[in-house]
Amino acid sequence: CGIVGYVGNRNSQNILIEGLKKLEYRGYDSAGVAVYTSEGLQVKKSKGRLANLESKLGETPLNGTIGIGHTRWATHGKPSDVNSHPHTDNSLKFSVVHNGIIENYMVLKEELAAQGHVFVSETDTEVISHLIASLYEGDIVKAVQKAVSRMKGAYALGVLTEHEPDKLVAVRLSSPLIIGVGEGENFIGSDIPAILEYTRNVYILNDGEMAVLTRDGVELMTIEGNFISRELFHVDWDIVTAEKAGYDHFMLKEIHEQPKAYRDTMGSRLDPSGKKVVLNEVGMTPQQIKAIRHVHIVACGTAYHAGLVGKSVIEKLARIPVETDVASEYRYRAPIITPETLVIVVSQSGETADTLAALREAKRCGARVLAITNVVGSSVAREADDVITTWAGPEIAVASTKAYTSQLIAFYLLGLYLAQTLGSQDDAYIAEVIAELKELPEKVERILAQSEAIKNVAEQIATHDNLFFIGRGLDYAVALEGSLKLKEISYIHSEAYAAGELKHGTLALIEEGIPVIALATQEDLFEKTVSNIKEVTARGAHVFGIHSEGHYELAKAVDEVFAIPATLPLLTPALSVVPLQLLSYYASLARGNDVDKPRNLAKSVTVE
Ligand code: G6P
Repeated sequence: CGIVGYVGNRNSQNILIEGLKKLEYRGYDSAGVAVYTSEGLQVKKSKGRLANLESKLGETPLNGTIGIGHTRWATHGKPSDVNSHPHTDNSLKFSVVHNGIIENYMVLKEELAAQGHVFVSETDTEVISHLIASLYEGDIVKAVQKAVSRMKGAYALGVLTEHEPDKLVAVRLSSPLIIGVGEGENFIGSDIPAILEYTRNVYILNDGEMAVLTRDGVELMTIEGNFISRELFHVDWDIVTAEKAGYDHFMLKEIHEQPKAYRDTMGSRLDPSGKKVVLNEVGMTPQQIKAIRHVHIVACGTAYHAGLVGKSVIEKLARIPVETDVASEYRYRAPIITPETLVIVVSQSGETADTLAALREAKRCGARVLAITNVVGSSVAREADDVITTWAGPEIAVASTKAYTSQLIAFYLLGLYLAQTLGSQDDAYIAEVIAELKELPEKVERILAQSEAIKNVAEQIATHDNLFFIGRGLDYAVALEGSLKLKEISYIHSEAYAAGELKHGTLALIEEGIPVIALATQEDLFEKTVSNIKEVTARGAHVFGIHSEGHYELAKAVDEVFAIPATLPLLTPALSVVPLQLLSYYASLARGNDVDKPRNLAKSVTVE
């Protein structure tokens, strides 16, 4: 969910709405604002996209200079006007926006109900506003402190009360929250873009910290009430990079930004000699690297799929055994983590709650944690021991593209770095991989230039309700990502299968005319994959094949082909995923879906 708050001298309604627009990627199933007006605290909220709220406020504006706003991704309670934030207490004098989940909210709710509190929504957040109201004795800061001491779970809160209408209280535990510092005005936001139009000076709150904002200043303290002094963080990236720049959708823009993202992520990490990788941000000594016995890669969604490629890359280059886990499963399978384990967490946003929880568990068990993330200053970046930043720039579309491929580049760099430290590969091979890496951006440009061909295939598959992706080895890892991408934004049901595994059950689903996207880019697995393709064509499937330049014979085995430029088999995922991204984009477009904001999803999921 997204949070924004304002206190200053300007009309807060407009600032809140503009801020929420920048945060819509955190959830967009309902939105609301609370503003202190001449008639007291007033709340307006609306189910659906932010535009609904905007038009409500257009008809009857809320005039005031202090307010809080929220855009929601439902957890407790379905998307509806009443379940939207801000929530209030029965006196309507306290109002709260919340990101996270309060695990003991039922206990608190029953307790408050017994005291006479009446609840109108199904949410855990409404309980917080009642709790604060019940604990209020003339000091909102103290009431919030008492309330959070009773709450279990994760939260970022923005609190406003009519009793002290010049104060905005913000507090965080396990959910991101930042404070923007302006002149005569101050802001809260769950993410920097929300406030970037107004100020570049921010405080990043840590867990267990709170802030009290007035027009004239910001006070930082712990939830126990001990004051904190902290340096301001200056944001030096630009809001324009977060705009669409002429493309119809953020997703298309981000797909096209991949050559730049590859170049920026490699950047100065490739030594000018072309013979080695320089990763100054990895603080492990050669002795510590040599002591690594196993690697665990932990992530969610698309980042998990990057981790599947990462497993092959590290195993091949560094010859260390690697396991890749979905973060929400990792902690609960009692993984064997020792000080000899290197845990790599991968997260575009650096705020995904499951990934953060896995990171903390790994640290608790004594492992060294290395993060691959796209957001400098994110929770994951701050808590990991080493951070490799992917320089993909802000990714706004929910379906991840440039962040995924930049994560692949980060894995290639890391794999090479480990290999050169361990001596597990000879120098000539390392130099060859580096030379091929440098060619990737230009090869992606060549794929992008053929978008029309992909669009034609996408328009065909958009008429189907089911399809399959198949591949072997790294092609299977990419098939999983291609399938996820398609599901997310086109809502076409698809499954990715290891091509050789299809015959053990799933082949039963292959029938006349069903589309199958077959990846056959892996040199040593090519013949075997072609055999598997024949198993599906024999049963009537319509196959769209992707191969590397040179393997033109694939055309004989399938209905349609697309060739990606040739590269080392290990590097093909950074190319073969691009046509699959375009395929999902155009299929979603053909179906008339909201490409950048698919139903039910959010860009950044900060609840477990
Ligand atoms: C959400 C997004 C996915 C993303 C996943 C992990 O579910 O919709 O696109 O892959 O979170 O996000 P992260 O920021 O940790 O990479």
